[in-house]
Amino acid sequence: MTTRVVLVGAGAIAASHLAAVAESGRAEVTWVVDVDEARAADVAARHGVRRSGGSLAAALAGGADLVVLGTPPGTHLPLATEALEAGVPVLTEKPPALSLAEMDRLIAVQDRTGARVGVVFQHRFGGAGLRAAELLAPRGDGSPGPLGRPLVATCDTLWFRAPAYFEVPWRGRWEVEGGGPTMGHGIHQFDLLLALLGPWSAVRAMAARLSRDTDTEDVSAAVVQFESGAVATIVNSVLSPREVSSIRVDTDRATLELEHLYGYDDAGWRLTPAPGYADLAAVFPGAPGRPSSHAAQWAAVLDALVSGAPLPVPVEVARVTLELAAATYASAFTGREVRRGEIGAGDPFYERMQGPGAPWPPVKAPR
Ligand SMILES: NC(=O)c1ccc[n+]([C@@H]2O[C@H](COP(=O)([O-])OP(=O)(O)OC[C@H]3O[C@@H](n4cnc5c(N)ncnc54)[C@H](O)[C@@H]3O)[C@@H](O)[C@H]2O)c1
Repeated sequence: MTTRVVLVGAGAIAASHLAAVAESGRAEVTWVVDVDEARAADVAARHGVRRSGGSLAAALAGGADLVVLGTPPGTHLPLATEALEAGVPVLTEKPPALSLAEMDRLIAVQDRTGARVGVVFQHRFGGAGLRAAELLAPRGDGSPGPLGRPLVATCDTLWFRAPAYFEVPWRGRWEVEGGGPTMGHGIHQFDLLLALLGPWSAVRAMAARLSRDTDTEDVSAAVVQFESGAVATIVNSVLSPREVSSIRVDTDRATLELEHLYGYDDAGWRLTPAPGYADLAAVFPGAPGRPSSHAAQWAAVLDALVSGAPLPVPVEVARVTLELAAATYASAFTGREVRRGEIGAGDPFYERMQGPGAPWPPVKAPR
């Protein structure tokens, strides 16, 4: 059976979803929806999609098996709610929500309607990344996985966005994007770090707006402890002319490194065994795997639609990642350590990523 997909949002990321759906051979985009109806019609015409328009309700009435949201972050909760209320599962782009409060509302709607929500974090789905996570995970009895016990890690998203990038009125605003490079750019990389190392437990962070005309930060840096005890640094920047996305994990048996920019293949990974563990070079990456991409995640999503499993990445899993973003801001803006589970209802950082406000004056004109 061909899965009927409604694509909401005909902007930049739409092409990745349209290509992934076409590549799957198991799904078809049947509607393109965008508040800019002309843009929706144009994208639909260029990709051979029969229907387009400005109304998600009309698209849902036409029959849908999955709604994919490629719209700005502030629209994800209302659009997902509309689809879920109609009983249709949702795959939403990152970040799934602007705050933990919104995320919990999204999870509540999922639980009430029984229609599932998945979040796009495509770097979890590259072959080498999946293999690394499997080899780093502790075994059921608590003993270390084949690559040993993770001890130290670094996770850098050092990207460059020129000042002109932020001239677009909606960019760099808390109320639309939820944050700067922590929420919008580095979230991919530290989500992958969480997939490799498991849940985090505490964070101490700094954030600053150093150079760009934004209300949000343009750099953040965090020191994070994991439940396993491992300690990591996470840097998220849009100020870095030589761009790189990288992760390094030192275990008691090896150093595992990933270097890429917007997606990796096997060649982006490198394993250096510790003395006495030379045999590990044969274990990783193992058989050639597919690159990390929207297409790789879509394959897993379509499998889950058939099997009834939670849609990957399940919202409950993505919440752990969003909570690390919230805790990074909370720690940076209060100067104290923040532990996982600590930011709950009533906490200003639960309602908004910036909590009571960033410690610098806004520069964007009021909307
Ligand atoms: N996974 C990734 O690698 C990746 C990469 C880029 C962007 N994204 C995410 O994808 C999302 C969209 O980003 P983009 O760069 O494509 O943005 P964009 O501005 O290029 O496109 C967004 C589109 O959504 C439309 N839109 C806005 N509100 C709408 C609504 N209520 N209903 C219907 N349409 C609406 C806009 O008219 C626009 O055409 C963001 O959440 C972003 O973070 C993810």
